Amino acid sequence: MNYGPILFLGIFLTVASSWCGLVLIPHLQFGRQQPVKIEETGELYPQSRPGIAQQGMAVYQANGCIYCHTQQVRAEHFGADIARNWGQRRTVARDYIFDKPVMLGTMRTGPDLTNIGLRQNSVTWHLQHLYTPVITSKGSIMPPFRFLFEQRKIGAKPSPDAVPLPKEYAPEPGYEIIPKAEAKALVQYLLSLKASAPLPETR
Ligand code: HEC
Repeated sequence: MNYGPILFLGIFLTVASSWCGLVLIPHLQFGRQQPVKIEETGELYPQSRPGIAQQGMAVYQANGCIYCHTQQVRAEHFGADIARNWGQRRTVARDYIFDKPVMLGTMRTGPDLTNIGLRQNSVTWHLQHLYTPVITSKGSIMPPFRFLFEQRKIGAKPSPDAVPLPKEYAPEPGYEIIPKAEAKALVQYLLSLKASAPLPETR
């Protein structure tokens, strides 16, 4: 007997059913999500990030922050994310509709950053932390990202952009540490991470 057609049908059905399960059904469920009006504030959520934060997202992507940080908060009964203050609620597909690509992350060597803009909203804190993580976080194993800063000779007067640093990490006298455009954009991206609006599907 010729088993060719049966074999073909078997392979076809296997591929077709997994395509339906992994591509078609998720697309029908989530593919056309739109911002919704939040009752409490009357504002639409989510909103696209400001341009500088989008540039910062590219810096985040280029520097591999994603290898150590996730941006996905599990529901209360699935883990301790909310107890750790990594989110006020679980994250859902709608949170990410304006982010391309989505920075979900795969591993948590460092904390989840879904709502870092709410947890830590100081620009100076973020700049000091990126320049030398142990300044703000004692014992941190996060690598310093000093190449996002430049050391400059102080001119007639110190630059208002200079990062305030404790004595042991400060450059030699007469010099100051200035964040490059990449560092400034990256911090604006971090400050824009605050998925917390109460969405209907997270209540
Ligand atoms: C090798 C792993 C690693 C990489 C790569 C890394 N981090 Fe971290 N990060 C950590 C660890 C560990 C901590 C916790 C200690 C600390 O606060 O420094 C942390 C903490 C943080 C925090 C503070 C979180 C909080 O809850 O206080 C921020 C913000 C942050 N990282 C941003 C970044 C950004 C932006 C990048 C990319 C430029 C990056 N990290 C790359 C490991 C990493």
